[in-house]
Amino acid sequence: MIQPDIKGSVVRNSNPDGCHQYLGQQWQILNGKPAGKRYNNVLVLGCSSGFGLASRLATLRNGAQTSIGVCFERPASESHSGSAGWHLDQAFHTLAEQQNHRAVTFNADAFLEQTKQQVIEQIKAFGKKFDLVIYSLAAGVKLDDQGNKIRSSILPTTDGLKGLQVDLENDRFFEMELPAANAQQVADTVSIMGGEDWQSWLQALRTADVLSDDCTSYNYSYLGSELNAPVYREGSLGAAKEHMHQTAEQLRSQGFNASVVVCKALVTKASLFIPLMAPYVMALKAELNARNQEENVFDQMARLFAGGAEQEGDLLRLDNLELAADVQAGIKARIEQMSAEQFDSIDYAGVKQELLAMHGFGLEG
Ligand code: NAI
Ligand code: NA
Repeated sequence: MIQPDIKGSVVRNSNPDGCHQYLGQQWQILNGKPAGKRYNNVLVLGCSSGFGLASRLATLRNGAQTSIGVCFERPASESHSGSAGWHLDQAFHTLAEQQNHRAVTFNADAFLEQTKQQVIEQIKAFGKKFDLVIYSLAAGVKLDDQGNKIRSSILPTTDGLKGLQVDLENDRFFEMELPAANAQQVADTVSIMGGEDWQSWLQALRTADVLSDDCTSYNYSYLGSELNAPVYREGSLGAAKEHMHQTAEQLRSQGFNASVVVCKALVTKASLFIPLMAPYVMALKAELNARNQEENVFDQMARLFAGGAEQEGDLLRLDNLELAADVQAGIKARIEQMSAEQFDSIDYAGVKQELLAMHGFGLEG
């Protein structure tokens, strides 16, 4: 019997069987929807969780023949159950085998040159070229060219921002004040979460001649609203997203079919980890649930590949329901009702249950 090990806003372990069950359920739901556009040979950077995993599963659903994934996960050992992403990736392989889909996953640092070479050798060994490249990394560290560790920080760029942060371990919220990121912290966050590595991946793949002529590439972004702008759009992560959007433009001018997909905010390990975002994502989920409009990450990616994103300029938008004026008003009201002691307006129990399910806990049976 494996019990969840929760620290702060992070679930640190997983239930292997539960992860298989969770992904199996998502697969069933996906198969009940109409199939979307078919890509044959898919690369997913950040394949084991969140948008990357959901993209890989959606392309499997739509009939892809092969996929290569890259992720950075903790395998199971004698003393630890392993990270959820490790088991969700295994679960993906189980489903892929049933579909006669050839899948290879590299558990390797996607920021390293040698990982690019492994992927290139593998797609060549398949005798294929990629017609879809998904860039969906969410990382906190990378090594710079000199081998020094740089860290991303998710902070506002103005001082003294206050708000609630969640403590899932003790089922409480607490008031938190955030310092402003300094220029170096912003630069490091842009280096990790901006467009640099997306561009270098696509260039390396093109140089190795493993992209088909009509290859599409997606990178996932978030814009949000004035309710979370101080901590997101105007903060260090927003600066990284801005850089990534500019990179997309550069890539297109170099002949790549590269698009930014603006997704809705989700309750995930990544979003709950962002200080002051937790109340917003929880209020959003409650508000969309009340309207029967809630989408999880798998719903969002099914919609993307079914052509359901709204083209706005160069952006593909999946955040239309979130940004509707009445939904935003509802979120604002729910956040205003919240305090450290009172959080009925957000269905806290439902959020926690969803997060635990993604780690294979609390599922039926
Ligand atoms: P996630 O944390 O669920 O997944 C991140 C993936 O990156 C995992 O597969 C992980 O193993 C992999 N990874 C991390 N570091 C790595 C490394 N060094 N080498 C190889 N793989 C590595 O994150 P999520 O939420 O799916 O985020 C993906 C993208 O979507 C990000 O750009 C994020 O900003 C964006 N996004 C997220 C939203 C949210 O609400 N979670 C909303 C809109 C966009
Ligand atoms: Na991902």
